[in-house]
Amino acid sequence: MTNSSAASLSLETLRPEIWASLAAAASDRAAPFRTPVLATVAPDGAPRARVVVLRKAAPDAARLEIHTDNRSAKFSALTHEPRAELTFWDPARQWQIRAAGRVEILTEGADADLAWAAVPDASRRNYGDSAAPGTRLRTLNPHAFPATPPDADPDARAAFALLRLHVSHIDWLHLAPGGHRRAQLHWSDDGVPGEAYWVAP
Ligand SMILES: Cc1cc2nc3c(=O)[nH]c(=O)nc-3n(C[C@H](O)[C@H](O)[C@H](O)COP(=O)(O)O)c2cc1C
Repeated sequence: MTNSSAASLSLETLRPEIWASLAAAASDRAAPFRTPVLATVAPDGAPRARVVVLRKAAPDAARLEIHTDNRSAKFSALTHEPRAELTFWDPARQWQIRAAGRVEILTEGADADLAWAAVPDASRRNYGDSAAPGTRLRTLNPHAFPATPPDADPDARAAFALLRLHVSHIDWLHLAPGGHRRAQLHWSDDGVPGEAYWVAP
């Protein structure tokens, strides 16, 4: 999609257009929407934001999925406060998408098993290390940490978590020389489309 065609978008076409972009990014390593920023609230109330990889987008259910280690700070934060926001930026299209909602945490069960089965061996090495993510290392050598435990390490699956954002609200912003455009779109918790309207950028 080009900027000029974005300018002619209607609210009716914008909703599927946004989801098509997100779904495409989930299977395209080079897509700018592939690496959004996940914002959460820490147990002490402080904001926290970090880059993650978008693993899946389910347009019909209005859900977005990411993977993480269940010993990470973001996992604790989401256990404490499941509301979160994923912020995406595409510099070519000049689109920002902020997708907010409730995160469902899946560590066991068919969906988590299926997601884990699709994680490549190289990425599995990022899970189940002997020290939890963020643990202070008692060394002056950053290379001392063993980042490649055996692929068959059962701790790796045990540390894996599928995070599923049930999107209740998207704030879409298009930066354009002729005038910025901004819209807000809503969904119910089970993914039924709700209101959509333009807002002042
Ligand atoms: C390009 C990129 C992709 C990343 N993808 C993920 C991811 O999918 N899941 C994840 O937990 N951390 C990912 N990270 C690491 C996080 O940004 C973060 O540093 C780490 O998860 C610790 O965050 P936390 O302490 O807030 O839990 C990624 C970092 C970068 C730079």
